[in-house]
Amino acid sequence: MRLDKFLVENGIGSRTEVKAILKRKLVAVNGKVETSPKLHIDPMTDQVSYNGQSLVYEEFLYYMLYKPAGVISATEDAQHKTVMDCLDDLARKKGVFPVGRLDIDTEGLLLLTNNGQLAHALLSPKKHVDKIYQAEVDGIMTRKDQDVFQEGIVLSDHHCLPAQLDILSVDVENQKSLVNITIQEGKFHQVKRMVKACGKKVTYLKRLSMGPLLLDDSLQKGDWRRLTEKELSCLESFGVTL
Ligand code: URA
Repeated sequence: MRLDKFLVENGIGSRTEVKAILKRKLVAVNGKVETSPKLHIDPMTDQVSYNGQSLVYEEFLYYMLYKPAGVISATEDAQHKTVMDCLDDLARKKGVFPVGRLDIDTEGLLLLTNNGQLAHALLSPKKHVDKIYQAEVDGIMTRKDQDVFQEGIVLSDHHCLPAQLDILSVDVENQKSLVNITIQEGKFHQVKRMVKACGKKVTYLKRLSMGPLLLDDSLQKGDWRRLTEKELSCLESFGVTL
């Protein structure tokens, strides 16, 4: 890989900025100052430092985003702000993308990575990855609805796998419910349509977890952090090297 590409991918600066940085003799490869942007390095074995700080090459990046409402789960969009606009430049440079989709008005946990193998493993219907959503519902969700969820709701285009409906609270006076819903799939508007199939309406939806990943409750809406080593090692149970 060219030295300038390596430095850009490490978030040191743009191509032009990196060229200037190299000219100022701020970069060393294996202890020797290098000024040529064209120099070829092996990111795995060569030791590159900038301003005396060693740079660690990361091929794959993993971000946890607390997706706010109003942004779409895509890498580009002509009209709306996307989840990529919530992340840093490095994520955009390294081809990070959202693992699955949340509706524009859904909030909560979204994993973003440039590791296609991991994304594929987490989204594969065969892997049965639990996704837990918290929903505010117009209407009273009942014991019978729990059975209907458990039996597998039939939507117009899909027969859902059995899902779990946990009723957290009901407000009889205002005819509202707060529920957690666990599904192992990710069909279009799936949770909203499952609730609708019971004759009620989701008014607010937030994803709390995806497999072993839990939404970090210290994150504010719109904020992100990189996954921790512990979270990454939990994800390795999906048979992917991270
Ligand atoms: N189900 C939905 O209806 N919407 C989402 O964003 C996610 C799951």
